[in-house]
Amino acid sequence: MKEINSALEKIKQVHEIVKNQERWRREECINLIASESVLSPLAEKFFINDFEGRYNEHSEESHYCGTKFANDIEEFCKEIFMERFSTRFVDVRPISGAVANMAIYYAFTKPFDNFISLGIQNGAHVSATRWGVAGFRGLKNIDAYFDEKRMNIDVDATAKLARRVEAKLIMLGGSLILFPQPIKELREALDNDFLIVYDAAHVFGLIYANEFQEPLKEGADIITSSTHKTFQGPQGGIIIARDSFEEDKWKKIENAIFPGLISNHHIHRFPALAITALEMNVFGKEYAKQVIRNAKAFAEELYNLGFNVLCPDLGFTESHQVIVNVKSLGGGRDVANRLEEANIICNKMSLPSDSPHDATKNPSAIRIGVQEVTRFGMKEEDIKEIARFIKKLLIDKISVHAIKQEVIEFRKRFKRIHYCFNFEDI
Ligand SMILES: Cc1ncc(COP(=O)(O)O)c(C=O)c1O
Repeated sequence: MKEINSALEKIKQVHEIVKNQERWRREECINLIASESVLSPLAEKFFINDFEGRYNEHSEESHYCGTKFANDIEEFCKEIFMERFSTRFVDVRPISGAVANMAIYYAFTKPFDNFISLGIQNGAHVSATRWGVAGFRGLKNIDAYFDEKRMNIDVDATAKLARRVEAKLIMLGGSLILFPQPIKELREALDNDFLIVYDAAHVFGLIYANEFQEPLKEGADIITSSTHKTFQGPQGGIIIARDSFEEDKWKKIENAIFPGLISNHHIHRFPALAITALEMNVFGKEYAKQVIRNAKAFAEELYNLGFNVLCPDLGFTESHQVIVNVKSLGGGRDVANRLEEANIICNKMSLPSDSPHDATKNPSAIRIGVQEVTRFGMKEEDIKEIARFIKKLLIDKISVHAIKQEVIEFRKRFKRIHYCFNFEDI
C-alpha cells in the first residue's frame, strides 16, 4: 500500500511537471529558440501510435516479423522526400540530426582523418567538432576560413585548406546560419569527387519550401538534417543524397545507420513526419516566406532601437535567424538569462570574434529564431512588438516583472497553430 501511494504521488508530480511545461512554454512564453518548433495539431494527433515500442531493424531485409506497416510508413515518408528533392536516395531512420551526421562520418571516414567544418565560433554545430560525434569517430575538425563581415565561408582559402590537410569531406550548414552558403563556388574550387555534405538542420524547412538555397542542385552530395526546426515535424533526422550519388556509397550510409548506429529508429514519429511534409507541400511556401520576412523585420526593428544586430549591410538575414551582439549589455549568457526571466526564450551564441574561452563560457551574442512565432501566426508588426519588449528590458531597464506581464498578455493573442490543416479538413 505504501509503495502504491508513493508511486501515485510521484505520478502526480510527473503530471504537474508536464502541465507546468505546457502552460509556461506553450502559453506564456515567446519562444525564439532557433532550433525548436511545435507540431501541427494533426501531426501531434498521429504522434503516439502502435509503432511506438515496435522494431523494424533492416538493411536489405527485415530482421523482425510484424513489420509490414512499419515498412509502409517508412516508404511513404521516403517517397515524399524523394519526390521533393528529385532523388532516389533518402533515409529517414536517423533519430536526430546529430545521428544523421554520425552516419556520414562512419560511412566515409576513419579515425584520425581530417575534415573541414565551420568551427564552433563561426556557427558549426557541436556534432561537427572534436567535442561531438565527429570527435567520437576520432576525427579532427579543421575550421574553414570564415569572413566575419559576410558571416560566410571564404571559398578560395577553404578549398586550398581542404586540399592541404587532405580533408575527407567538408561539412557545411550550421547552427548559426544567416545566409545561403557558397556551395556552387566550393564545388567549382574542389575536385568533383570531393565529398560536400550540407547540414541543413536549421534551414531544412526553408530549403524544403525552396526559399533559401538548393544544396543538392548547387553541388552538395548529401544533405543531413533534423526534422524539427524550421521544418516543423517530430524530432528526428534525415539523410538525402543527390540522385546521381553512387549506389555503393549510399549502401555505406545505410549500413552506418543499421547495423552501425541505430537498432530502433523510433518508427512512431513517421506518421507525424509524413503529415508535416504533406502540410509543407501545401503551406510551406507561404510559411517560409513569412518566416524570412519576420526575421528581417525583427532584425531591422532591433537595429533601429539601438541594438548591435549583425550584417546590417547585407539586410541582416536571409534565414529564420537574427544574431545580436550583446557584449556591451553583459554578454550572451547574461542577456539570454535576463530575457528568460521575462518569458522571452532564446539562447546565447558565440561569434567569430570570440576567444575560445568566451565562445563556450560567455559568448558575445544571442541567437533569435522566428519560425515558431511565425507558426503561431505572428506577422511583421507583432514581431516588432517583441523587439520593443526586448528594448524595454535591456536598454530602458524597465522591471522584469512588468515586461513578463506584458509578454503573457501579448502571447494570449497567438494561440492557434498556422500553416497546417485542421481536423475538419480530413
Ligand atoms: C546544424 C545542426 N546540426 C545538427 C544538430 C543536431 O540536431 P539534433 O538535435 O536533431 O540531433 C543541430 C542542433 O541544433 C544543429 O544546429
